[in-house]
Amino acid sequence: MSFLPPLDSVLPSLTSRVSVRSVLIGVFLGFSLSVTSTSLALYFQQKRREREAAKFTPRPIELRSDEVVAGVTGLIGNTPLVRINSLSDALGVEILGKAEFLNPGGSVKDRVALRMIDDAERSGYLRPYTGSRIFEGTVGSTGISIATIARARGYDTTIIMPDDVAEEKVKALQALGAEVQRVRPASIVDKKQYVNLARQRAAKFGQQDEIDGSDPSLKVVYPHTLQSPSASVLVTTTSLKVEFDMEDWHDDEDFLAKPRGYFADQFENKSNFDAHFFGTGPEIWRQTNGHVDAFVSGAGTGGTVAGVGQYLKSANENIRVAIADPEGSGLYNKVVKHGVMFDRKESEGTKRRHQVDTVVEGIGINRLTNNLELALPILDDAFRITDAEAVSMSRYLVKNDGLFLGSSSACNLVACVKLVKKMGWKDGKTVVTILCDSGNRHYSKVEFFASPLAGMNFVNSLQFWNDEYLHKASIPVDLQIVEDLLRPGSPV
Ligand SMILES: Cc1ncc(COP(=O)(O)O)c(C=O)c1O
Repeated sequence: MSFLPPLDSVLPSLTSRVSVRSVLIGVFLGFSLSVTSTSLALYFQQKRREREAAKFTPRPIELRSDEVVAGVTGLIGNTPLVRINSLSDALGVEILGKAEFLNPGGSVKDRVALRMIDDAERSGYLRPYTGSRIFEGTVGSTGISIATIARARGYDTTIIMPDDVAEEKVKALQALGAEVQRVRPASIVDKKQYVNLARQRAAKFGQQDEIDGSDPSLKVVYPHTLQSPSASVLVTTTSLKVEFDMEDWHDDEDFLAKPRGYFADQFENKSNFDAHFFGTGPEIWRQTNGHVDAFVSGAGTGGTVAGVGQYLKSANENIRVAIADPEGSGLYNKVVKHGVMFDRKESEGTKRRHQVDTVVEGIGINRLTNNLELALPILDDAFRITDAEAVSMSRYLVKNDGLFLGSSSACNLVACVKLVKKMGWKDGKTVVTILCDSGNRHYSKVEFFASPLAGMNFVNSLQFWNDEYLHKASIPVDLQIVEDLLRPGSPV
C-alpha cells in the first residue's frame, strides 16, 4: 500500500501552483517596474524643480517685508513671479505668472487705477478731499481698484458697468461705497454703452448745482470742461461756484480746491500704459534677471500688453509678445490673419452676449483704443482661446498647482502652452504671463431668465467658476482638454 498520492492528482496542482506563482511574480515585477518608473519620473521632476528654484534666489519683496508702507496704495505692485509647476514640468519650459491677484484690490488693475489717480493729481485735475468724484466705465476690476484708492484718497466713485458681469464685483464695489449703475451691454457706438455713459455722467457733474442754483443768468450748461492733452480724459468742475482763468488754472488755488467730476477713461488714458511700462514691465525684467523669451497677455483695454510688451522689447527686441484672445474678440484676426479686427460670431448672430461673446471676463476687444494702438507695433503673435480651453485650464491649475485663478489668467496660460508648442521650445526658455485676478470673483449664483424673443434661456451674469452655469451654456468642464494640449506632438 502506498502513502504517496497518485501522480495525476499531484501534477495538476503542481502545475497550477507554478503558474499561479509565475502570475504573481509577473504582477509583482510589473507593479515594481511601474512604481520605479513613476518614482524615477517624480524624482527627476523634483530635481528639476529644485534646480529651477535655485536659479531664483528667494529674496524678500522689499516694499512688503521690512518696511511700513504708507496705506493701502503701498501694497500695490511688486508682486511675486510664480513658477507654474504643472505646466513648466510638462513642457520642459519655464512658465511664470505675475501674481497680480495679490494686489489689495485683487487685480492687476490696482496699478492702473493708482497711476491714473496719481497722474490726475499731478496734473491738477484732481485734489484729495475736495468732494470730487471719479467716474469710470468698467467690467468691474478697474472699478474695484478705483473705489479702493478713492476711499484712501478722499474721493467718491461712480462706476458704470454692464449688467452681465459677475455679481461678486458689484457686491465688492458697493461694500467700498461706490455708486454702481448697471446697464445692458451695448456697442461702443451706442450712447448708452457703459464707457460712454461714464463720460456723460462725468461731464454732467455739477449740473445739479445749476438746476438747484439761484443764478438764473447762468446759461452755459458745462462751462468748465478740461480735456487732457494726452487722451480724452475729461474733467468738469462744479459749474456754478467756479470762476477761473482757462489759461492759468494750474496756479489757481481756488479753482484747484473745488470739487470736480473726473472721467478716468482707462481705455484711452495713457496712464494705463505707463503703469505697466514703468511698473509691471521693469519688475518682470528684474525678477527674471532679463531671462525672458516671451510675454503673453490678453487685452481688455490693451494697457498691460502694450506697457509690458513695449518695455520688454525695449530691453531685448527678441522677446516675443503674444496675445491670448478669447472667443468673440477680434484681436486674433487683426494680428494673425487679415489685419482687420473682426470675429466670425459678429456676423453670424450667434452671440450669447452683446459685447465680446465669451465666458471669459476682462479681456477681448473689437475696437482700437489708444492703449491698444501702442501694442500693435510690437505684437508678434496671437492665439485664439476657446471658452472650453480656458475652463479646462482653470480646473487643471487647481488640481495640480492649488492655484484658484480667474478666467483671463486661465486664458493667458492656455496661450502660453500654445506658444511654447508652436515655437517648439524646450529646456532653457522662459515665458511670462499675468495672473490678473483670482477665481473668487467668478462664481456667483446662477440667474437665468427666459428671453421670449430668442426662445432660450439667457443668464444675466457670467459664472466662470460655476459648473451648473457652464453646463447650461454648453461649455464643457473637461480637464482632458489641457491634458491633450500638453501631450507631446498633439496639435496646437
Ligand atoms: C480680470 C482682467 N484681466 C485682464 C484684463 C486686461 O487688461 P488690460 O485692460 O490691460 O488689457 C482686464 C481688463 O479689464 C481684467 O479685468
